[in-house]
Amino acid sequence: MNSYFFSICHLSFLVLILILVPTSSGSDNEQYTSCRRPFECANIRNLSYPFWGGSRPQYCGHPNFGLNCTNQAPQITINSIPYRVLSIDYPTKTLTVARAEFWNNPCPSPTTLYKNATLDGAPFAYSNDSQDMIILFGCQALPGVTLDNQFSCTNDGTTTASYFIITSGGGEVSNGFGTFIPGCNSSVVVRFNQTAALGLADARPSYIYVKRVLDSGFGLRWDANDPICSGCAQSGGVCGSDSGSGFSCYCSDKVYPVACNSTRGGSGMCFSSLVFTCVLLKTWAKLEVVH
Ligand SMILES: *[C@@H]1O[C@H](CO)[C@@H](O)[C@H](O)[C@H]1NC(C)=O
Ligand SMILES: *[C@@H]1O[C@H](CO)[C@@H](O)[C@H](O)[C@H]1NC(C)=O
Ligand SMILES: *[C@@H]1O[C@H](CO)[C@@H](O)[C@H](O)[C@H]1NC(C)=O
Ligand SMILES: *[C@@H]1O[C@H](CO)[C@@H](O)[C@H](O)[C@H]1NC(C)=O
Ligand SMILES: *[C@@H]1O[C@H](CO)[C@@H](O)[C@H](O)[C@H]1NC(C)=O
Ligand SMILES: *[C@@H]1O[C@H](CO)[C@@H](O)[C@H](O)[C@H]1NC(C)=O
Ligand SMILES: *[C@@H]1O[C@H](CO)[C@@H](O)[C@H](O)[C@H]1NC(C)=O
Repeated sequence: MNSYFFSICHLSFLVLILILVPTSSGSDNEQYTSCRRPFECANIRNLSYPFWGGSRPQYCGHPNFGLNCTNQAPQITINSIPYRVLSIDYPTKTLTVARAEFWNNPCPSPTTLYKNATLDGAPFAYSNDSQDMIILFGCQALPGVTLDNQFSCTNDGTTTASYFIITSGGGEVSNGFGTFIPGCNSSVVVRFNQTAALGLADARPSYIYVKRVLDSGFGLRWDANDPICSGCAQSGGVCGSDSGSGFSCYCSDKVYPVACNSTRGGSGMCFSSLVFTCVLLKTWAKLEVVH
């Protein structure tokens, strides 16, 4: 009697395992498996949604957060402008970036074309400790005068004067230098970290000051469906964007639009009730033997 019920239980477990195993390792959770682990990109570790790039598929991230991991530091491109990523802070959802063309070189070659960056339409906003600086390139130096905000650039064997102008929050030139600078060939607006710049105020000459200020980078706050992602994570899922647009929540059974449905709880329930039934059967069998 007793051993008969035992084998029923063993058989049921076997059948249950045979049913459960294929459903929990099917092709549907390929995204769940590949996006679950954090990844590394160049010198930054422990990255996850919304970032992707390198060996990390795009479906694990948000389309606008692709990183190029082939250089020393990750690079992100926003509205066609490449930025070197210096650090990524998840709690404040802030990236610290520096304009890649100006990295370690405040005098990029004019052939790289000076471009004004814009965040229009991108899921980023400048952090509030940052502001704009205008750099004027290819200017004719005033004879016999070197202004405080002047530095020289040599490109293709030609040396020209450059000037940096710190603007006020509204973007207007606030120190009046602009009106005194003759014949500049181009101007570019670049963002910088005000706090970092204050700490570098004594850096001289101007070339070194501009180089250090630009290399300090500035903050970009990101917005990538973060409240939805928290909900997905709380339900046991992993955030991503299936087919490159919108949001997807990858769960151990399949892909859901927002959060995992409680199917895992379902199999757990089924398993516990089977254990419970077997315990009951065993107890009943023992009673039978006693009688
Ligand atoms: C990795 O990042 C997650 C959040 O994105 C954090 O909870 C965890 O502590 C980090 N782990 C390490 C080793 O830094
Ligand atoms: C990544 O950056 C390197 C060097 O800047 C560049 O040559 C390469 O084309 C970039 N890769 C992608 C996929 O943009
Ligand atoms: C950048 O912006 C400034 C001021 O708005 C403008 O004068 C300049 O022509 C722009 N430069 C480029 C390369 O678009
Ligand atoms: C800047 O933003 C931070 C949070 O991102 C906030 O705590 C701080 O008060 C803000 N500072 C100013 C001057 O707005
Ligand atoms: C500005 O550009 C023009 C034409 O490209 C060039 O002839 C001139 O020498 C440049 N001026 C300076 C100061 O580099
Ligand atoms: C700006 O610079 C200060 C001082 O170096 C630093 O503490 C702060 O984190 C920087 N802000 C960003 C967004 O990187
Ligand atoms: C779970 O799925 C069922 C049937 O597919 C649906 O009726 C229910 O609303 C879902 N629950 C949640 C929390 O999404």
